[in-house]
Amino acid sequence: MVEQTVNIVSNERATDLYFRLVVRAPQIAPLVQPGQFAHVRILPLRDALLRRPFSIFQVEGDTFAILYKSVGKGTEVLSRMRPGEELNAIGPLGHGFTVPQPGGETPLLVAGGYGMAAMHLLAQRSPQTGIVFVGGRRRVDILCEEEFRALGWEVRATTEDGSHGEKGLVTQPLIAELKRTTAGRKLFACGPTPMLKAVGRLAEEFNVPAELSMDEHMCCGVGVCLTCVIPVKAGDAWEYQRTCTEGPVFDSREVVWEVTR
Ligand SMILES: Cc1cc2nc3c(=O)[nH]c(=O)nc-3n(C[C@H](O)[C@H](O)[C@H](O)COP(=O)(O)OP(=O)(O)OC[C@H]3O[C@@H](n4cnc5c(N)ncnc54)[C@H](O)[C@@H]3O)c2cc1C
Ligand code: FES
Repeated sequence: MVEQTVNIVSNERATDLYFRLVVRAPQIAPLVQPGQFAHVRILPLRDALLRRPFSIFQVEGDTFAILYKSVGKGTEVLSRMRPGEELNAIGPLGHGFTVPQPGGETPLLVAGGYGMAAMHLLAQRSPQTGIVFVGGRRRVDILCEEEFRALGWEVRATTEDGSHGEKGLVTQPLIAELKRTTAGRKLFACGPTPMLKAVGRLAEEFNVPAELSMDEHMCCGVGVCLTCVIPVKAGDAWEYQRTCTEGPVFDSREVVWEVTR
């Protein structure tokens, strides 16, 4: 984990909803593992002390990229920043995904919202390709489809309004695939909590291993404030663990869904 001032290389609209920010971060970029995030201080923001967490989407040389949606004051100010301006970043943070081993399980990735960005680095670093299930409400919510295809992955898209891919929830084609075969499969998921909960249930039902990147609000990002805790099994009981340090990626069997918010 490193804290450094990073320089904006580019910051452009990538889709109708998302921006793609590339920063030069020579101390952070080489350390990044799939599923990890950067905690960014948006310096022009008046209350810049509060950082914003973003999954690392791509790493190239001494740069890393994030894909972000403008949802509030921080991301709105970020979307107006230009190349050459500076941000402060701490990263890479958190416990990421286990990258599949050569000849190991076939990865099935399940992604909703910005989870597609978090999954891209995993797809890129995985020695074997698999299937990516991407889901959203509408066509504009679907990200990175072409990027996954360019890496040789099969993509199955679903939208709730049917404007792109199969109509329905991302779990529908996943269930069909798990019914076809579960042998040698492993699930990796990142997206909104209801989606993660559904994937966790399917992992249990079909008896396949699953790693879930939990979506919790974060404040400090480094394990101090306890804003981000979730209940995790500990023997016969459970305990709170921090998604910013012990997570955001957890084995689905560890998460205690009955107690999660
Ligand atoms: C581990 C992690 C990885 C993330 N990766 C991405 C990513 O790759 N791309 C992306 O677009 N977004 C990502 N987010 C969400 C992103 O951090 C928030 O959208 C951002 O902090 C909002 O800041 P804001 O000032 O614009 O919004 P605010 O004005 O603070 O709030 C606007 C909305 O954003 C949500 N939000 C605010 N703060 C957080 C927070 N700390 N964590 C989660 N949601 C928040 C609130 O629910 C609210 O609805 C990630 C969040 C986490 C926890
Ligand atoms: S965000 Fe502060 S402990 Fe996790």
